[in-house]
Amino acid sequence: MSKRVYIFDTTLRDGEQSPGVALNIQEKLEIAHQLARLGVDIIEAGFPIASLGDFEAVKAIAKEVKGPTIAALARISPQDIDRAWEAVKYAEKPRIHTFIATSEIHMKYKLQMTREQVLAAVLEGVRHAKRYTDDVEFSPEDGSRSDLDFICQVVEAAISAGATTINIPDTVGYATPEEFGRFIAAIRERVPNIDRAILSVHCHNDLGMAVANSLAAVQNGAQQVECAVNGIGERAGNTALEEVVMALYTRRDFYGYETGINTEEIYRTSRLVGNLTGMPIQHNKAVVGKNAFAHESGIHQDGVLKERTTYEIMNPAMIGLVVNNIVLGKHSGRHAFKQRLEELGFTLKEDELNKAFARFKDLADRKKDITDRDLEAIVDAEVRAIPEKYQLEYLHVSSGNRVVPTATLGVRHDGLLSEEAAVGDGPVDAVFKAVDKITGLKVCLKHYALNAVTGGKDAIGEVTAKVEYEGKVYVGRGISTDIIEASAKAYINAVNKIIYELGDLVQTQAM
Ligand code: KIV
Ligand code: ZN
Repeated sequence: MSKRVYIFDTTLRDGEQSPGVALNIQEKLEIAHQLARLGVDIIEAGFPIASLGDFEAVKAIAKEVKGPTIAALARISPQDIDRAWEAVKYAEKPRIHTFIATSEIHMKYKLQMTREQVLAAVLEGVRHAKRYTDDVEFSPEDGSRSDLDFICQVVEAAISAGATTINIPDTVGYATPEEFGRFIAAIRERVPNIDRAILSVHCHNDLGMAVANSLAAVQNGAQQVECAVNGIGERAGNTALEEVVMALYTRRDFYGYETGINTEEIYRTSRLVGNLTGMPIQHNKAVVGKNAFAHESGIHQDGVLKERTTYEIMNPAMIGLVVNNIVLGKHSGRHAFKQRLEELGFTLKEDELNKAFARFKDLADRKKDITDRDLEAIVDAEVRAIPEKYQLEYLHVSSGNRVVPTATLGVRHDGLLSEEAAVGDGPVDAVFKAVDKITGLKVCLKHYALNAVTGGKDAIGEVTAKVEYEGKVYVGRGISTDIIEASAKAYINAVNKIIYELGDLVQTQAM
């Protein structure tokens, strides 16, 4: 029988630390529910001491999401641990994950602590966490660059103080597979009480080796892998969940391990995380990229048509990629629409279905065939929408290579229609400036991305606008067959998120 590897998902903690990613509580909850459906063993929901938003999100996830263990991160100090517990204590199965660095470079320059002081802090911190819960994870940060004798001493101390999971991070993505595998094997061999804890790894992808390092660790005795959907995370990201899971599954003949992941939920989880974080998935990304199952060369196409396994090592259906033969268009009814959404995994409430269907009909008038990607975009933009304080009513843009780009916008705010015009460096800039005039908010655009959700002349354009307001990033999205309209909607969506999160305070400032 295969042995089990536990999947610890850190999309909402390390993943959310990706530059430019900012999820609100609703979005985090939605991802957490999806992670539970995916079957991860542990969800690291956030770092409660980091901000009030993180604290509230961990608390909400702990209260609502059933199934997986819910973990909260804390530095080894009592204040951090207390705060983590305050947020995570509501979970069915709460875990405190505490850490301190153990490499010479981190201890000397960052912590300015001696080995003895670090060791004492580990004992004290783990004991402190243990007063709250039995389930305590300890990580020696920058573990892979730590002295082996010292890390073994620290790990033994953490277990003696009550840690039930020991996680060895390759914090800066410096390790290589053979070396990291040997490091994990050595910890297993040398730490006398290691059998009293689950041994885990947490790899970063700075040299593109996070998945390989995690798999090498598994071969050498690691029982838990920490990873993030689409591999998002600090800098170059974390071990990609979908890659490590599908590698263990596809090559189970070689590895001999299994996970508890429901692989058919992988594609949907990946799309959800990509959409909500605003981090597009590269086309050639392993497992979930747009091209992962696309065959361009004639020889390959011929082979796949004769026998799929000639060029496909995974069945797309295994990751939940459904090939759809029914074409939805303007004559499709509500029943077919609902059925297709259900096949794609969206079970909507009656009012949500009504909203999505109205948007579908509107789109079908402008676009011949509606694809699955269009449907996902409709659900993202219409159903997951937060209250629309500002709504785009109309827009007129004049642009060209010899005119000053000008935009005139009509935006409804609490029932009242305001109109403003502005000029800009281009039509999109002019639109954003007109929105600023209407809302009166000092919003700074940090990033703008336009994606064609589907191909063809009548493709839907999906715009992601990341804006900063008072030091916090908000991500707005908008879709339309007209890219200027999609841009206006995305920018207004970001403004609505600011108002939703900060409430009346912002509104009075804007007056
Ligand atoms: O990369 C790292 O070392 C971490 C720890 C907090 C586990 O994210
Ligand atoms: Zn990390």
